[in-house]
Amino acid sequence: QIGGVIFDLDGVLTDTAEYHYRGWQKLADEEGIPFDRQKNDLLRGLPRRESLLAILGDCTVTEDQLQEMMERKNRYYVQLIEEITPADLLPGVNELLEELQQKEIKIAIASASKNAQTVIERLGIGHLIDVICDGYSVQRSKPAPDLFLYAACQLDLTPDQCIVVEDAASGIDAASLAGMLTVGLGPVERLGKANLVLPNLENVHWADLIAGLSPKAK
Ligand code: BG6
Ligand code: MG
Repeated sequence: QIGGVIFDLDGVLTDTAEYHYRGWQKLADEEGIPFDRQKNDLLRGLPRRESLLAILGDCTVTEDQLQEMMERKNRYYVQLIEEITPADLLPGVNELLEELQQKEIKIAIASASKNAQTVIERLGIGHLIDVICDGYSVQRSKPAPDLFLYAACQLDLTPDQCIVVEDAASGIDAASLAGMLTVGLGPVERLGKANLVLPNLENVHWADLIAGLSPKAK
């Protein structure tokens, strides 16, 4: 019996994946490091530090330089998310969240981002969310299962009572390790390991999720 849905935030409820990309692109340009959207796609869902280390590749930098670059990218990102309004919710998101609330299905956000609270406030969906887990909640980030297990615990549910909705391969891995059913949003090439793959949440209802995830659907 499913009792809750745990949503990733960036790239699932709103297109902040694009803002993370722009922040990293600006930093990479300033540092003269080759970077593009394709490389960025491999960073989807990774925490700030891991993302920067991946961008730097073989370039060695001191810890101070690393910190400065992380702060700089975050400044660019924070500037971009200041512009977010409820109009930036992706299609179908508000409708699905309202339907879940009506059906008394619990809702959590589990995001690796330290800016998750701000983004949720700006999107105006705080009243629909039961629990927010973010980049401050656990030590080990996705693909470790910790953040999703923490979210389930906060919702007072067991892992097998939870569905996770993610746009990142690392997030699907984390949710599978946590023993949860997974819905991947995006191309099959990226999300092929999910139990159900959908392009986005437009016109997606509770019944569609349950039907798509049922063993018979396989
Ligand atoms: C994840 C994003 O949700 O949060 C990543 O998908 C991002 O792109 C990570 O790096 C950390 O976010 P922040 O806001 O703490 O730098
Ligand atoms: Mg994401």
